Amino acid sequence: MAVVALIGAQWGDEGKGHLVDLLADRARLVVRYGGGNNAGHTVVNHLGTFKLHLIPSGIFDADTINVIGPGVVINPEALINELNTLKTSGIATGRLFISDRAHVIMPYHIMLDQLQESSLGEGKIGTTGRGIGPAYADKMSRIGIRMADLLHEETLQSRLSAVLEEKNRILTRLYNAKPISLHDTYLRYLGFGRQLAAHITNVHPLIIRALEQEQPVLLEGAQGVLLDIDHGTYPYVTSSPPGVAGACQGSGIAPSRLTSIVGVFKAYTTRVGEGPFPTEIDGPEAAILRQIGTPWAEVGTTTGRLRRVGWFDAVMARYAAQINGIDRLAITKLDVLDTMPMIRVCTGYQLDGIHLDYPPTTTSDFYRVKPIYEALPGWMSSTTSVRRFQDLPRQAQAYIDRLGQLVGAEVGIISVGPARDQTIMVQDPFAI
Ligand code: GDP
Ligand code: IMO
Ligand code: MG
Repeated sequence: MAVVALIGAQWGDEGKGHLVDLLADRARLVVRYGGGNNAGHTVVNHLGTFKLHLIPSGIFDADTINVIGPGVVINPEALINELNTLKTSGIATGRLFISDRAHVIMPYHIMLDQLQESSLGEGKIGTTGRGIGPAYADKMSRIGIRMADLLHEETLQSRLSAVLEEKNRILTRLYNAKPISLHDTYLRYLGFGRQLAAHITNVHPLIIRALEQEQPVLLEGAQGVLLDIDHGTYPYVTSSPPGVAGACQGSGIAPSRLTSIVGVFKAYTTRVGEGPFPTEIDGPEAAILRQIGTPWAEVGTTTGRLRRVGWFDAVMARYAAQINGIDRLAITKLDVLDTMPMIRVCTGYQLDGIHLDYPPTTTSDFYRVKPIYEALPGWMSSTTSVRRFQDLPRQAQAYIDRLGQLVGAEVGIISVGPARDQTIMVQDPFAI
């Protein structure tokens, strides 16, 4: 039975939410496995337009169980707000289960994220300021607070009082910030625990039962492989592993169970925040990619920042496919290229006269690479209502085929608009 990992394969915002919403009806479980509310997943379907940050994008399918896995870091207040927004829109949320092992983003994580960023000045990462890095750091330092702890007064009290003493010293002495009150924080987070109690559980039996009963499972990625803590453009990365290894680790599903690994790529490239981006462009072509004035403009879902835009980078894409074993490509936002007379694809880098077909390690080398481009003719017609590959303009078919060839995997899904049905299913990953 299909166990499909759907992972972002660029620098995030590839359209994962759109595709998870599309595929959710094929899955018994949708499991979000990593990141936190740094993510912003946009879903456009018959029920409306939704911006999800923590809740899996399978929540709109009435029969699908949605799980927030152990690898996610959770801001409980943000999660409660998201649940309330969905409830107000008439979406049933009773099928949401939150791992009791998932770590909690605490107020000091958010403060430290923002204070660290401002103290870095020009060298800032451009984080979302949601406390993600500090929360993962505490998890690794074994001083994190988990969702299970919010349900136990004594555990919460003792873990929080131990950690808060150190955090308050850092906040007040290093950053001249106000200390955080133990009593207020304890009561607030206990309150969040009570509000979420019906959803918090050990998700292991739920996941294992689904696998044993051969039920289809969809693993929902957040962020993108190029933001990976080990394999991304360090230090301009997030603090988790967004790829397939993170999918297994963050859900508790063994790698041998996976039947397909779908890498989601935009038909071009975007990035929010600082860091290398060899194929970044500006000018009239960038304006076409940005789509300002449309609901799918390249503006960050979480922070409202303008996304940087550029051509498809097959060097980075191939690298992402190699380290994740991507067997199917999902190419999104093809329609954004509809009015582009000529489209470039980066097929290699030049660094000090040497040809590179993989990314360099250091930021300084990254800033010096010169992309080698191949130019392909545009199709100059609308693809938004096309639903079959063979009905795409010839040049669009050639463009897609070329991306598949360069990345080294077959194309499984193409999307030509933000709505659920604006997709071309070349090969359904649940049918493999
Ligand atoms: P995610 O973080 O990977 O889920 O992606 P985001 O939701 O942050 O960003 C993708 C944006 O593109 C959202 O505004 C989507 O509604 C939109 N979108 C997704 N697929 C398509 C598509 O095929 N065409 C167009 N025009 N917009 C799309
Ligand atoms: P989705 O799931 C795009 C980026 C931030 C910043 C870097 C580190 O919507 O694809 P962090 O707050 O994680 O410490 O910030 O990572 N980033 C994303 N960019 N989409 C995302 O998620 C992102 N999540 C984090 O902009 O550059
Ligand atoms: Mg996003």
